[in-house]
This record gives sequence, C-alpha cells and structure tokens, in this order.
Amino acid sequence: MLQPIAILDSGVGGLTVAKEVMRQLPREKIIYYGDTARTPYGPRSSEEVVRFTREIVDYLIQFRPKMIVIACNTATAAALEDIRSRVQVPVVGVINPGARAAIRRTETGCVGVIGTEGTIKSGAYEQALRLLTPDVRVISEACPEFVPLVEKGNFRSAKTFETVRKSIGHLRQYPMDTLILGCTHYPFLMETISEVMGQGVNLISSADETACEIRTILQDGKQLAGAGYEPVHQFFCSGDSLMFKSIAERWLGKQIGLSPVVWQVPAIV
Ligand code: DGL
Repeated sequence: MLQPIAILDSGVGGLTVAKEVMRQLPREKIIYYGDTARTPYGPRSSEEVVRFTREIVDYLIQFRPKMIVIACNTATAAALEDIRSRVQVPVVGVINPGARAAIRRTETGCVGVIGTEGTIKSGAYEQALRLLTPDVRVISEACPEFVPLVEKGNFRSAKTFETVRKSIGHLRQYPMDTLILGCTHYPFLMETISEVMGQGVNLISSADETACEIRTILQDGKQLAGAGYEPVHQFFCSGDSLMFKSIAERWLGKQIGLSPVVWQVPAIV
C-alpha cells in the first residue's frame, strides 16, 4: 500500500507547501487537512494551537501517513516538538527550512520576517536564523490582517494592497535584502508584497526548501513512491468547503475532489 504524506495547516496556507511537494514529488500520495473552521491560529495561545494540532494529527493518523508535514508556521512554532514526541513517523515543520533559505540568499545580513502574532511572539525564526548565522540582523513584524484576506480569496485588490502597504511598508527603511514570508498563507499575496517591498528584496517562501527536506528524508528512509503509482491527492477541510475548494483549485491550477470530514472539529471555546 502506498502510504501518504499528510500535510496540515490552519486553512488554505499549507497548499503553498502542498503545491511544491506535488511539483517535486509528483508520484506521492498526499492527504491535506485545512482547519478552516478554526482559522486563524495566529492570535490564539500556543496551548490552544498545540491542542488543535494534536487533534488534526490524531485524525490524520488513521490514513497511516509515512510523514507528517506541519505546513503552518504558527503550529510549527507551538507544536513541532510535541507532535514529534507523539508519533512514530518523521514530522517536518516549515520554520527551519525557511530560515535556511533566507540565510543562503541574504548578502546584507539583514533579514526580515513577517508572520502571524503567534509565530512572531515565539521568536522561533530569530532563533533558527541565529543558529545558522549568529550575527544576522533580524527585523520581525506580525501581520494579523493577511490571513483573513487570503482565506476569503482576496489576493489582489486595492484593499489588499492598502493592507499590505500599511502593515509592512515601513520595513523598507531597513537595509534588508531578504524577507521571509513566515506564514504559509503569505505566498498567496506574493505579488502585492513584492510591489510594496520593491525589487531589491528577495521574498522567501519556505515551500521549496520544505519540499526538499521532505524528499531527502523519504530518500534516506527509502520511502519515496516508486514508478507505477497514480498520484492521489485528497483534501479535507473543517469549515466552508466551497470556499476552500475554489481557493485550492485557483492555487493548484487543477480541479480537486474534497472529501467529507468524518471528524468534526470540536466547538471553539
Ligand atoms: N498558515 C499559518 C502559518 O503559517 C497559519 C495562519 C493562521 O491561521 O493564523 O502560520
């Protein structure tokens, strides 16, 4: 039996990682879970994010995944180690891959990080960046208004541009040449963010580097899907399934079947 790679996020953001996994590993079976009923995770306490992540992993484990990808920075910051201690399969997060990609790119040694309140408050990127290059200068900014725009499919509009400009326009005063999109939702806003930051700033999404890490781990464990398998991609979401499907199809450029979720997320308290 071909075991899937399980990918999870608070909503549609992890699709930016899933798309890159599909591109780099086209034979792999993928199960995706977007917790759209409880998005955004960014303003929640880390205890709550750990609880939600555990619940989703407990749900996904029935599909016998060979790997779990926490394609959410907020959940990676809060729950990566917790989930690693609870399951037998490799668990990959998105923060170390993003930090590695940024350090490779920067020439000025000044790196910006934008993310949710939870990710920025955790200091996880700063820590990961400093482990790689101790004297890197890190400028961090939380952008709580971005995720709701993306979850509504509002990637390019005058309102989106204004929100992005107000949230990060001031970062242009720093000598940063590299900006980490430290939330998997933000690549949906890539063009707008690039317009606001200007051509001289490299935008880093952790998707490519995370997909490389997934491939390396599977290769080392001799677990890559071999030839002869039809790739099956299965999607679940806990909230508005029509909105999820429409965003997923726009982003992935193909039609998707959305599976009904058998487990309903517990009511938000
Ligand atoms: N996509 C997520 C992240 O990378 C979560 C965004 C949210 O739910 O606030 O942090």
